[in-house]
Amino acid sequence: MDLYPEIILDHFKNPRNKGIIKNPTKTAEKENTLCGDKIRIDLLLDKNKKVRKIRFSGEGCAISQASASMLTEKLHGKPLSQIKKIPPKEIYKMLGIEISPARSKCALLSLETVKKAVNGRRHNQ
Ligand code: FES
Repeated sequence: MDLYPEIILDHFKNPRNKGIIKNPTKTAEKENTLCGDKIRIDLLLDKNKKVRKIRFSGEGCAISQASASMLTEKLHGKPLSQIKKIPPKEIYKMLGIEISPARSKCALLSLETVKKAVNGRRHNQ
């Protein structure tokens, strides 16, 4: 039996929206201090402050990478105001498995990085 459901393994093996944006409107990087894994998120916004393009990069475990991949799909077209309010429980729901306290940092790394980017200073705009 696999340790993780098919959907998580699929996103881990075939990550969606992986890469970088050359001139992002917003960008941030965050590290899971427990393991040293990092995620960077780049956002390109349209004039209505909605996500036109989103990319993630970095290295990490299946949970952190699958979570980043799934989250980028979910955030496409979303307004910044809505992204700021996403609670951690939405990520757990998205992953669809029980996340132990030890893995919560892995699961939430991408959401925390997106929020850091959204709340950070603007790039090129
Ligand atoms: Fe490093 Fe999960 S073990 S992010």
